[in-house]
Amino acid sequence: MARILLTGGAGFIGSHTAVALLARGHEVALLDNFSNASRSVPPRLKEITRVDCPVHEVDIRDTEAVRQIFAAAAFEAVIHFAALKAVGESEANPLLYFDVNVAGTLSLLTAMRHAGIGRIVFSSSATVYGAPEHCPIAEIAPLHATNIYGRTKLIMEDMIGDLVRTGILSTAFLLRYFNPVGAHPSGLIGEAPCGVPTNLMPYLCQVAARQRDCLTIFGNDYPTPDGTGIRDYLHVMDLAEAHCAAVEVALGTHGTHAVNLGTGTGHSVMELLHAFENTTGIEIPYKIGARRPGDAPSCYADPALAKTMLGWTAKRTLVDMCRDSWRWQFLSAKVK
Ligand SMILES: NC(=O)c1ccc[n+]([C@@H]2O[C@H](COP(=O)([O-])OP(=O)(O)OC[C@H]3O[C@@H](n4cnc5c(N)ncnc54)[C@H](O)[C@@H]3O)[C@@H](O)[C@H]2O)c1
Repeated sequence: MARILLTGGAGFIGSHTAVALLARGHEVALLDNFSNASRSVPPRLKEITRVDCPVHEVDIRDTEAVRQIFAAAAFEAVIHFAALKAVGESEANPLLYFDVNVAGTLSLLTAMRHAGIGRIVFSSSATVYGAPEHCPIAEIAPLHATNIYGRTKLIMEDMIGDLVRTGILSTAFLLRYFNPVGAHPSGLIGEAPCGVPTNLMPYLCQVAARQRDCLTIFGNDYPTPDGTGIRDYLHVMDLAEAHCAAVEVALGTHGTHAVNLGTGTGHSVMELLHAFENTTGIEIPYKIGARRPGDAPSCYADPALAKTMLGWTAKRTLVDMCRDSWRWQFLSAKVK
């Protein structure tokens, strides 16, 4: 059992990871400024887990406040989710992204050094591969940022790697997520984007709930079997379990390890849409729009390293992802 601090712990992936860590007997504390999370998340986590974990409403850029959290309880590791994550917004407001993501991480790392916490599991992204030349993508593929969000992820990966190299940190897992979707099967927590969703599954769910008229598919002339883009969709509970594995391996290892987290199977937008319709029985109106600049035709992981290094593979199916996403959308529509 370890005591672990989750920055951004009230967010989509952080809250599901908290459930998975608590189920494995770890002690968890959440740090979040609630800029993109609902205050209903901590009580809902308690409803799911029956555990009342401490919640610190703090901004990661406030180094002194983070230091005080570390001074009050001894943490063995930090899982660092807190960040801004919208590609379009990052291009519109680069300074905000450098501030929250890069300066925020610098602040957190400074506080960790002060407290002598040497292990970090970091939320990276498949976006660090840019527009990949080959699929499946292995961790040794060239890294290339095609937008400011991706650039911040690369900078943060480098910062963390340099701190391990210079002995300030002992262990870092840089977890490169592909496309997390789904929700906890209770329907109590899930992805709750503010404003218009920029990811496919939440948008699909809002169309199914008749909150939006129709889904726009960005391009149907890609060199893929049905012409729509292919992505590696991954259930958020599988992703949460990967974090448990990473933190547990981190407690007994040293060095920096970049690891892809995906299923290894790509599905097209059309396939996901049909899977959603078949699972929920709801027809989804859609139209075809222009390609979005920077979107790759195909992007899916080679997940072999996650299996050998973490003993982890994704288990849940596309049907599980659609069913759990829709349950969350359906149940949460009343309380959001
Ligand atoms: N969801 C995805 O598709 C995806 C894919 C790849 C990588 N990631 C990365 O995973 C991490 C978690 O993503 P998510 O989908 O759970 O996003 P999210 O927005 O749901 O969670 C991020 C959390 O961080 C908090 N936060 C933001 N700025 C903060 C600050 N300055 N101080 C304290 N808390 C702050 C937000 O309130 C939110 O609760 C992010 O780093 C994201 O870049 C997400």
